Parts: sequence; C-alpha cells; structure tokens
Amino acid sequence: MHDFSFLRDVFAGGKLGHVVEVGCGAGGHLARYLSTVSEKVTALDDNEESALEAALALADLPNVEVLRRDGADTGLPGAGDVDAVVLCRSLHFVWDVGALMDEVDRLLRPGGGRLVVINSPLFEVQTCAGDPVVDSELEGLVEAFCQEAFREELACYWPGPVSENFARFCNPGRQSRNYLASYSFERLQRMQREPHNLLDLPVLLANCQVCRRFVDRHGRKAFDDRVLALQGRILDALGHQLQDMYFEQVDVMICTDFYIEVSVKPAV
Ligand SMILES: C[S@@+](CC[C@H](N)C(=O)[O-])C[C@H]1O[C@@H](n2cnc3c(N)ncnc32)[C@H](O)[C@@H]1O
Repeated sequence: MHDFSFLRDVFAGGKLGHVVEVGCGAGGHLARYLSTVSEKVTALDDNEESALEAALALADLPNVEVLRRDGADTGLPGAGDVDAVVLCRSLHFVWDVGALMDEVDRLLRPGGGRLVVINSPLFEVQTCAGDPVVDSELEGLVEAFCQEAFREELACYWPGPVSENFARFCNPGRQSRNYLASYSFERLQRMQREPHNLLDLPVLLANCQVCRRFVDRHGRKAFDDRVLALQGRILDALGHQLQDMYFEQVDVMICTDFYIEVSVKPAV
C-alpha cells in the first residue's frame, strides 16, 4: 500500500509544520508522502537495519530526517511543536505502548496535535450499510483464527508482544479506541477502504503474505479448511447459509484492509 493519497482528508487544511513517523520501516514510503504535506518529517525506527535502509531510500528529500530511535523514548525536544505523530502498521509491534503514548503526548502540540494510527485489521464483519456487526461470538472466532494463523508466524520474526497487541489494536470497534481515550486522545475520525463481500474472503486472505507463509508451512488444504470453516461459522452466527450468499442479497461484508484512527490531543 504505497499510495497514501487516502490520507488527503487527514492532512487537508494547509501544510503542517513538523510530523514524526514512528516505525517507518526500511522503505520509508509513508515518510516520502508526509514530506509533501509538511515542512519537516522525522522518521523513526528502532531497528538499526531498517533505519539505515530508510535513510538511504529517503536521501533525496531535504526535509526528511531518519533516526534510529525508540518511539517510546525519542530523545526529541518535547517542546510540543509536533503537529502529527503517525504510525502505519507499527502500533502492534511496540513493546511498551503506554510509554509510547506518554512520549507522543509529550511531543504533540496541545489542542490540535494529531495522532494518526493506520492499522490493518484481519477483518471485521459489516452490514451492507458499513456498520460493524458487534457480536462477541464473532469476535471470539476471529480471535481464534487470528491466533492460529498468525501467532506462530509473528513469533518467528518479532519477539515482542505483537500477537496480544494485534488482537488489541487491529480489530476495529474493539479496544484501540478505549485505549487511546485512556491516554486522553479524543477520537476525531475513522476511515476505511471499501469492504468486500464475505465470499471473497478466501481469495483476499490467500493474497496476504502472512497467509502465504502459513500455506508454505502447513499446506494449502489446511489453510482452505480453516478459512472455509471460519466463513461458515460467521454465516452461522448471523443466521445465514452459504447458498444465501450466492442466491440472495445477504448483507455480510468484510473489511480486510487498513483503517485509520485519527485522534487529537485536547487542550489542557
Ligand atoms: C510492520 S513494520 C511497518 C513499517 C512501515 N511503517 C510500513 O507500513 O510498511 C513495523 C516497524 O515498526 C518498527 N518498530 C517497532 N517498535 C518500534 C518502536 N518502539 N520504536 C520505533 N520503531 C518501532 C519496527 O522496527 C518495524 O520497522
């Protein structure tokens, strides 16, 4: 997802001064976009290799500085001059999210500084009108699937509490909103891409890198069986049958793409 034009609305209203990105990764793709909507970008990653690669990738941009820093302890002057802190697919990788929030709070300009969190939920079930279906049984199913398909994969390359954080922050409508509110961030807006039909779930998941690795390890059949079982159980929980999806208009949609939470730091 290197086309960040979907952020246009978030950053509308004139060029920003200073924007900090936490967890820029090796490509620095988001920092490149942020450099077009702000005077100055500080892109941070605490992984040495990623920070070095990002610095190389962004070397042509005079208003971007890449630093190897922990977002929870940036060492940046906390003068409250930062207009926005942006995290893209990074929040769930952070060890100490509480410390990160305190640091974000310290950096942001009071009464207007924005925290922008871009996450990729596994999926949420929605009605055709786009309203999330809030159902504890469904949440349990998604959680179980997520743990089975992802926990092992995540544990291979990241030692942090990413799977717990994934459940907490990457399921929209669940805890991330309350969590951010507990750090005094007021939610401004939430956006997401067009949802897909539940029937497309197997194809959508099969295109996802983590799922491809699951297939490599456990075989295509194991993956297909799990996805089909999940799809069936989602329909069960909603009182539909698979054939309803083919022959009737059934309002079950899924959002497998990213969503954006924009929170603002209130004036104290
Ligand atoms: C999944 S990658 C996302 C990279 C990029 N933002 C993207 O969307 O492609 C998560 C990144 O967060 C970084 N990260 C995790 N915890 C961090 C922390 N406490 N401070 C700074 N970076 C962190 C990791 O090193 C990794 O590069």
